[in-house]
Amino acid sequence: MSNFKHISVAGAGTMGASLAQTFALFGYDVKVFDIYETALEKAKRLVDLNQETWIKQGIVTQIQSDALKHKISYTNDLQELKDSDFLIEAILENLEVKHKFWRELSALVRSDAILCSNTSGLSITAIAEAVEHPERFAGMHWMNPPHIIPLIEVIQGKKTSDETIQVVYDFCLELKKKPVKVKDAPSFVLNRIQQAILREALYIVQEGIATPEGVDDVMKYALGFRYAAFGPFEICDLGGLDIHNNISKYTFPDLCDAKEPFGLIKDCVDNNNLGVKTGKGFYDYSNGRDAEVIRYRDTMFTKLAKTLFEEE
Ligand SMILES: NC(=O)c1ccc[n+]([C@@H]2O[C@H](COP(=O)([O-])OP(=O)(O)OC[C@H]3O[C@@H](n4cnc5c(N)ncnc54)[C@H](O)[C@@H]3O)[C@@H](O)[C@H]2O)c1
Repeated sequence: MSNFKHISVAGAGTMGASLAQTFALFGYDVKVFDIYETALEKAKRLVDLNQETWIKQGIVTQIQSDALKHKISYTNDLQELKDSDFLIEAILENLEVKHKFWRELSALVRSDAILCSNTSGLSITAIAEAVEHPERFAGMHWMNPPHIIPLIEVIQGKKTSDETIQVVYDFCLELKKKPVKVKDAPSFVLNRIQQAILREALYIVQEGIATPEGVDDVMKYALGFRYAAFGPFEICDLGGLDIHNNISKYTFPDLCDAKEPFGLIKDCVDNNNLGVKTGKGFYDYSNGRDAEVIRYRDTMFTKLAKTLFEEE
C-alpha cells in the first residue's frame, strides 16, 4: 500500500471523474479540482452514471458505491490541493495551459509530493519545465475510461528520477492496473498506434472504400476482437511472418501518409461536433443516447476485463 494520504485529480472532465473513482475504489480520499463549477457538476453526474453500471454488474454494492462517492470531494479552489502527496493532472491538452497550472501547483504542494500528468502525448520533459522539483514529476497516461481499462503508460521525462518512476509503477500495480514503462517520445506508444489507425480509417472513408459504420464493424468484429487477446507481433507470429511481410510490400505504398488532420474529423471539429460530450460527432448522441452509449461502453468493457484478466 502506498503512503499517499491526500490524492488529488486536477481537471474534472472525461478523464478526471473516472480517475477519481479508481482511487476511491481502492480506499483513497480524493479531491477533484476544476476551474469551472459546471465541470465539477458534470463530473458528479458522470460518477453517478459509471457507478450505476458498476452496481448493476455486481462490481460494487449500493452501500460500497455510496461509500466510494463519499470519498470524492470537489473544489475549484486550488489552495485546497496544498496537502496533496499524489496529484494527477488531467486538464486541457495544451502545453501553455498545462505550464500555467503546473507553475502554480508545484509551488503550492510539498516538495516530495508525487506529481503526474495524464497527457495523451505531450512531452513530459517539456511539461516539466514549469514544475518545481521536476524529479518528482512523471507521465501517467491512463486510457478512457480509466476506471475500467487496465493499461497505464508510465513515462520518464529527462528530469524524472528513477525513484519517482518506481513509486508510480508500484502505485499502478496496487490499483490492479497494467503499467508499461515507455520513452518520452511524442504520443508515447498507445496514441501513436491509435492515431495510425484513425488516419487510415479517415482515409478509407474519404476514398469511399467503406463507410464509418463499415470501418467500425471491421475493427469490432475482427481486429479489436483479436487485439483483445494478442498484440500485433503475436498476431504476426500466429499468421506467419512471410504472409504479413508480403502484404506489407503491396499495402504500405497505398496507405495514408497525411501530416495534418483531414476529412470527416476536421469537418466535425470545425462545426464543434466533438462527440459524446457535445451530443454529436461522427454519430448522433442527442435524446439521451450519450448516457446510453456510456452505459453500454462500461458494461462491455467490464465484461471484457472480467473475461480476459479476472484470473490474473
Ligand atoms: N479523453 C480521453 O480519451 C483521454 C485519454 C487519455 C488521456 N487524456 C488526457 O487527459 C487530459 C484531460 O482530457 P479529458 O478528455 O478529460 O478533457 P476534458 O476536456 O473532458 O476535461 C478537461 C477539464 O479540464 C478543465 N480545465 C481546463 N483548464 C484547467 C485548469 N487550468 N485547471 C483545472 N482544470 C482545468 C476543464 O474545465 C475540463 O473540465 C488531457 O491531457 C488529455 O489529453 C484524455
